[in-house]
Amino acid sequence: MTLPADPAAGRPDPGRPLRWGILGTGRITPRLVRAIGASEGGELLAVASRDEARARAYADRHAIPRAYGSYEALLADPDLHVVYIALPNHLHTPWSVRAMDAGRHVLCEKPIAVSLAEMDQLEAAQRRTGRVVAEAFMALHHAQNRRALALIGEGAIGEVRLVRGSFSFDIEQETDPRLDPAMAGGCLWDLGGYLVNMAQAIAGTAPVEVQGMAAVGASGVDERFTGQLRFPGDLLAQLDCSFRMPAREQVEVVGSRGVLTLAPAFLMAPDGPSAGIRIRRGSTEEHIPVADHDQYRAEVDDLHAAIGEGRPPLVDLVAARGTCTTLVALLEAAGVRARADAAAR
Ligand SMILES: NC(=O)c1ccc[n+]([C@@H]2O[C@H](COP(=O)([O-])OP(=O)(O)OC[C@H]3O[C@@H](n4cnc5c(N)ncnc54)[C@H](OP(=O)(O)O)[C@@H]3O)[C@@H](O)[C@H]2O)c1
Repeated sequence: MTLPADPAAGRPDPGRPLRWGILGTGRITPRLVRAIGASEGGELLAVASRDEARARAYADRHAIPRAYGSYEALLADPDLHVVYIALPNHLHTPWSVRAMDAGRHVLCEKPIAVSLAEMDQLEAAQRRTGRVVAEAFMALHHAQNRRALALIGEGAIGEVRLVRGSFSFDIEQETDPRLDPAMAGGCLWDLGGYLVNMAQAIAGTAPVEVQGMAAVGASGVDERFTGQLRFPGDLLAQLDCSFRMPAREQVEVVGSRGVLTLAPAFLMAPDGPSAGIRIRRGSTEEHIPVADHDQYRAEVDDLHAAIGEGRPPLVDLVAARGTCTTLVALLEAAGVRARADAAAR
C-alpha cells in the first residue's frame, strides 16, 4: 500500500488518546467495545445507529459518551480519529470511503470490498486522504496463527503440499443480512475470506488457478461453498464454508514431513476454545500451547501503531485486494450469479 500522504495526518497530540466511533450496533460490535477499552491509547467516544433511540440505548449499555442517530452525524464529530465500520457487507466500501473523506482512519469489517471496482474506490480514497485503513480480519492478528505461519515458514512440517480449511455454522435467523443477495450476503463473502487469506499467507502468494462450487439456497445466496486453489509449485488448497451446517472451524496444513492443525483457527478464547497448535509427525503429536489473548484487541493495537508510526496496518489494502481478487474468482468459477438467477425463477 502507499503510505499516507501526510504521515502525521489524523494523529492526536502525543500522549492523547485515539478516539473511536462505531457505525452500527450489531452482534460483532461488543467485541470491539471490549478491545478498544483494553487497547493501548484508544478511547471509545461515540456510536451511531440508523435509529437514535437504539444508539442511545447502546451507548448507555456500554458507557459510551456520545450517541448519534445517523452515520453521517458521527462522521461529522470533529473529536474522532478512527471509525470502526460494522455494517452489512454492501455498505463497507461506501462508508469506509465517506469516513476517510471525513478525515477519519478506518477499521472496516470483512469483506471491506465485494468487487474489484470497490477495491479501486478504497485505494483512491486512501491515496486522496492519506488515512490508514485496515480490514478487520482479526484471526490474522492472533499469536496462534502468527506462530503457525512462522513454524511453517521455518520448515516445521517440511514442504507444504496441501491446505484444508473449513468454517461453518447454522445461521439463526432467515432475516439475517448474510442471506440477502442485495446486501452482498453469501457464505463465501462471510466466511471464505478467513480461509482464503490463511491459505494465501501460508503460500506467500496468490493462487494461479481456482475452482468453485456453490449451493445457492432459496435465499438467493451461496449457503454452502467449496473451493480449490492451486498455488505456484503445485501447493493445493481445499476450502469449504457454509451457514447451513453445524459449527466447525479449522485449518489443516499438510507438509512433506508432518501435519499442522489449527482448531480453532478463527475464534479463539475469550470468544471460543483456547488457542494452541498441533503438529503430527509420524505417530508422534506435539501440542504447542499459545497463551490466550484478545485478537480483536491485537487488531486495534496494530491500527494504533500503524497510525502512530505512519506505516501500513497488518491487513492493509494490498492484503484486502489479494483476498477480494480470489473470492471474486471463486464466485465466478462457481457461477453464483447465474445460480441465484435460476433459483429466483
Ligand atoms: N470479525 C468478526 O469476528 C466478525 C464476526 C461477525 C460479523 N462480522 C462482520 O461484521 C459485519 C456486521 O456483522 P454483524 O453480525 O454484527 O451484523 P448484524 O448483527 O446484522 O448488524 C449489522 C448492523 O448494521 C446496521 N445496518 C445498517 N443498514 C442495515 C440494513 N440495511 N440491514 C441490517 N442492518 C443494517 C445495523 O445497525 P443500526 O440499525 O443500529 O444502524 C445492524 O445492527 C458483517 O460485515 C460481518 O461480516 C465480523
